[in-house]
Amino acid sequence: MRHVRVSGILIGIVFVIASSPALRAQTAASDSQAHPWYQHAVFYEIYPRSFMDSNGDGIGDLNGITSKLDYLKTLGIDAIWIAPCFPSPQVDFGYDVSDYQNIDKMYGTLADFDKLQKLGQDHGIKIIFDFVVNHTSDQHPWFLDSRSSRTADKRDWYVWRDGKGTNPPNNWLAVFGGSAWQWDEKTKQYYYHYFYPQQPDLNWRNPAVVSAMNGTTEWWYRRGVAGFRLDAVDSLFEDPNLQDDPVLPGQNAYGDPLVEHKYTQKLPEVHLALKGLRKVADQYNAVLIGETWTDNVAQLRTYYGAAHDELQMPMDLMLTKMKFSAPAFREHFKQVDSSGEWPVFVIGNHDILRSWNRYGDGQHNDQIAKDMAAMYLTLRGTPILYYGEEIGMQNNDPQRREDVKDPIGRLGWPKEKGRDGERTPMQWNDEPNAGFTTGIPWNAIPVTYKTYNVEDEAKDPNSILNWYKALLTLRHTDPALLDGAYIPLNESDAEVLSYLRKASGYAVLVAINMSAVPRTVHFDLARQGIAATSAQTLLTTQSSLKEKASIAQISLEPYGVYIGAVK
Ligand code: GLC
Ligand code: CA
Repeated sequence: MRHVRVSGILIGIVFVIASSPALRAQTAASDSQAHPWYQHAVFYEIYPRSFMDSNGDGIGDLNGITSKLDYLKTLGIDAIWIAPCFPSPQVDFGYDVSDYQNIDKMYGTLADFDKLQKLGQDHGIKIIFDFVVNHTSDQHPWFLDSRSSRTADKRDWYVWRDGKGTNPPNNWLAVFGGSAWQWDEKTKQYYYHYFYPQQPDLNWRNPAVVSAMNGTTEWWYRRGVAGFRLDAVDSLFEDPNLQDDPVLPGQNAYGDPLVEHKYTQKLPEVHLALKGLRKVADQYNAVLIGETWTDNVAQLRTYYGAAHDELQMPMDLMLTKMKFSAPAFREHFKQVDSSGEWPVFVIGNHDILRSWNRYGDGQHNDQIAKDMAAMYLTLRGTPILYYGEEIGMQNNDPQRREDVKDPIGRLGWPKEKGRDGERTPMQWNDEPNAGFTTGIPWNAIPVTYKTYNVEDEAKDPNSILNWYKALLTLRHTDPALLDGAYIPLNESDAEVLSYLRKASGYAVLVAINMSAVPRTVHFDLARQGIAATSAQTLLTTQSSLKEKASIAQISLEPYGVYIGAVK
């Protein structure tokens, strides 16, 4: 049921009065905090295979991205995180790197990178690369050397162990299926891999590895990269005593027993490695973003470092595991806010079902997509968008095992269909191949591209795209949205999520009806020191509210959004 098409009728109209000079003049003074560049920036993840193909080989590339900088600028993007585009055998579509200091031919050249970086700078768009820190490809020269003999120079750059008799050293499992230990016939030992066998884990306990990896980041900073998204940071270290992971009841899609990754995930040593990478980043005013999957806010908090000397932007990926629910979101934001850290909100990426499908109910997915955008783009913190989310792109999972490209989808079929569905080509227009390529696209494009595409949505005032644009314009220009305190309102309302973003003498009121029925909300802001009885509309999905709303009573349509200024 994931692919049910929404009727196509969009409710509401986008009204922006956000950048009215009077309003800005009133509020400019409240922005007195000094913020590093990444805190007020909007980030956007690009899966380079799928963004734009410039040479007709069916695969997106760096020149393709460069050709779309104007689009990104108009959308309101300040930094792009590009998933790995380094030389790679592409077993894990680039997350198996065989050379950290080059660009894979399929994506272009270092000169193409330089051009992208330079033109990006002219557009005010910074480039963030994806650093695969946990492992390399088994074709990386480091590993080729490491596996060549037990006494090789780089033997200890990876994790090699003797087996137990004819069995692997212990019960550790790879998250992509099977034992995490791969037997090597030549040197008669096992090497460790948390992901595919073609992705051997680096030995971060070896100082030579640490310095090579830190040096790699420096090399790219010097070339103009503004930061890194650090891949799979949690799995950098394993227990040196090789204790077995606790086995849990049940099996995963690959038929392996479920385990608690107690001795292979989130070891305290991870923080030392992050501190080292941060020291280098700080010399270049660069940002480190983390792929930090956590169960709760307390866990997430540890990645900033007790002395704020680790990741500036560990991703809060917890929203991606939550249902579309006002009380659940409210509770989460309360915890995030009380942690005191600068949040990093993400609702989708290249590893999980698209947000349009995940939060959608099969009937109101477009409206729900707008609600999600209204929510996470008006909160305090830095948002990271996933390409195509802004036009309501939908998952397009393969229908047959033989069509699957992502290896885990073949291994875990049909329970695990792999990640092809969320990595489909960007939908630029309604022409063949959605304007992505003149060749044969590497991955199937969903038929919905005929209506969900940049060109058509740009012309439609009600589109998801124009809603995103309006929201991003607002958040770039409104000091309360950038810096104002987060104050939850009407905390017992089960359907409408409401909050204030309060700056001094001025606040933005946000109310999002997360239900399929009309709801009327009442606000009393006297306790917040706000005497106003009405709000001046900044942005709404409803024509009935385009001028202003009475604070005492706002009638919201199903999934309606109201954002207004109060003082
Ligand atoms: C991260 C990436 C994912 C990749 C894995 C192994 O989770 O986001 O795409 O497969 O690391 O590198
Ligand atoms: Ca290409």
